Amino acid sequence: MKKRVTKAIFPVAGLGTRFLPATKSVPKEIMTLVDRPLIQYAIDEARAAGIKEFIFVTARGKSALEDYFDRAPELEAQLRKKDKTDLLEALKATNMDSGAIAYIRQQQALGLGHAVWCARRLVGNEPFAVILPDDVIAAEKPCLQQMVEAHAETGGCMVAAMEVSPDKASAYGILDVAEDMGAMVRASGMVEKPKADEAPSNLAVIGRYILTPRVMQTLNRKETGAGGEIQLTDAIAREIEEGRDVYGYRFRGQRFDCGSKAGFLQATVAFGLSRDDLRDEFSTYLDELTAVRRAAQ
Ligand code: UTP
Repeated sequence: MKKRVTKAIFPVAGLGTRFLPATKSVPKEIMTLVDRPLIQYAIDEARAAGIKEFIFVTARGKSALEDYFDRAPELEAQLRKKDKTDLLEALKATNMDSGAIAYIRQQQALGLGHAVWCARRLVGNEPFAVILPDDVIAAEKPCLQQMVEAHAETGGCMVAAMEVSPDKASAYGILDVAEDMGAMVRASGMVEKPKADEAPSNLAVIGRYILTPRVMQTLNRKETGAGGEIQLTDAIAREIEEGRDVYGYRFRGQRFDCGSKAGFLQATVAFGLSRDDLRDEFSTYLDELTAVRRAAQ
């Protein structure tokens, strides 16, 4: 029987240079989309997918993340005293079961593959998920849940995939497709950030993965790839080269690249408009803004 995926790694040790100066002292993953930090969206998605153990790969300057998932007794007492039940309820989402969350350090930002490898002992000999919190996905059924369900049928490695235009391919890991089964493809190769005319398809890998423990063994070799970094993509590509199955999963949902400023702004607008408590006021503001801009043109 295929093992269930119950562990997820959240690599959050990157430097977040695209958001400097903010990320000089605020971890990117703590930056807020409407009123919740990016990491909360990632944790909620993992929980919905049945994840029970949450492994954070952190670095210097990321202690705000650890505090975020801690209890806040004084704050909770104050809210209770003032009968602020709605706010107490909002805080509940930040509570983690004792022992469910583990932090491990990546001493040097040597790449995503290296960050994942840092969690090898906590993962053990089981399939595991990797979630990059700066990819935020709005979906009716959370993306990782879609993938875990598909993975229960296929086993092997699975990466979330989405179609991108040829001019964008060089920003992603791109799949070479051996067999297209609709929602899923079987990959015959994978290249990290190919040149525009060398992309093997228009299917880009984004920040959700289900991987086998064997990928950790490959990462053990600490081979560097694009940008001089230890790339997760290369370790997954090795699986294909050695004849094991790697699937791309075309998830249903909209992905926002919250690692970039433009993507973060787009996500803020989309998530703002999706909120019952904000929609009317916010959409009126946007309509007025659009009208003013049109008139000025
Ligand atoms: P990015 O490529 O977005 O890098 O990493 P970054 O450092 O976060 O941001 P920029 O490009 O400097 O603005 C993708 C994911 O991989 C993690 C990041 O935390 C992010 O979740 N990562 C990357 C690590 O944990 N360690 C690394 O060495 C590199």
